[in-house]
Amino acid sequence: MTAQLIDGNALAKTIRADVAHRTDALKARGVLPSLAIVLVGDDPASQVYVKHKVNDSSETGLKATLERYPASMQEAQLLSRIAALNADPSVHGILVQLPLPRHMDASKVIEAIAPAKDVDGFHVASAGALMVGRPGFWPCTPYGCLKMLDSIGYDLRGKHAVVIGRSNIVGKPMAMMLLARNATVTICHSATADLKALTLQADVVVAAVGKRNVLTADMVKPGAVVLDVGMNRNDEGKLCGDVDFEGVREVAGWITPVPGGVGPMTRAMLLVNTLEAAERAAG
Ligand code: GUN
Repeated sequence: MTAQLIDGNALAKTIRADVAHRTDALKARGVLPSLAIVLVGDDPASQVYVKHKVNDSSETGLKATLERYPASMQEAQLLSRIAALNADPSVHGILVQLPLPRHMDASKVIEAIAPAKDVDGFHVASAGALMVGRPGFWPCTPYGCLKMLDSIGYDLRGKHAVVIGRSNIVGKPMAMMLLARNATVTICHSATADLKALTLQADVVVAAVGKRNVLTADMVKPGAVVLDVGMNRNDEGKLCGDVDFEGVREVAGWITPVPGGVGPMTRAMLLVNTLEAAERAAG
């Protein structure tokens, strides 16, 4: 069997078109959805990421402002800037790009963002809302994965999903989203004993470790859906995921490529969350 591809670029495009449409409707009511992006320091990868976020926003009609501060910024200054953004009714979403400089406490900074503006979904209030099934903001990467499953009409009820990776921003929220759809969920990490015995039972595997070849063909049940959250470089320096794509695609029923899979969906879901924040604020 050769797996069908779940095309993240194509799906993200349709989501962006929907965001643009809803943004127009909001603008017609006098509300311009607005995202404040805060970048502290000069981490090269972060600079690329925030540039994408600004461009994605303007291409869909949202307003994005990028605030850049030197790595020497004091935590108290950042907290007071976040307080000002919280209080500004023209700002609907606030995103503090991570990582922050080492002298800052990232949790304290994220917890300073008003939950109603936490479009990254990283605040404990957002995590709690997801856990108990209340409205909040879902972290963009697992939210994008769920949308990919929806795009193929996949019914999770009664299915077994294995999530490899237990980070607070991907693995754990992914597991909650799958549980909310009535899947049976196993959360593993790369050191889980006999990972293969678990993945071989899985109807859905989400690989989110950040290490190449975490999932190989011998670990996959024929026909399973494989979502690859990894973002690594192979020996030739080419972008690759956590999944041995060439091998696994011969066994799986569906698979997401890297690049062009989960990555563009993560970017699209930030726009969705920002728009959602503006819609909620507009009432
Ligand atoms: N750094 C890498 N990815 C992300 C993200 O999705 N949000 C934030 N705030 N920082 C990041």
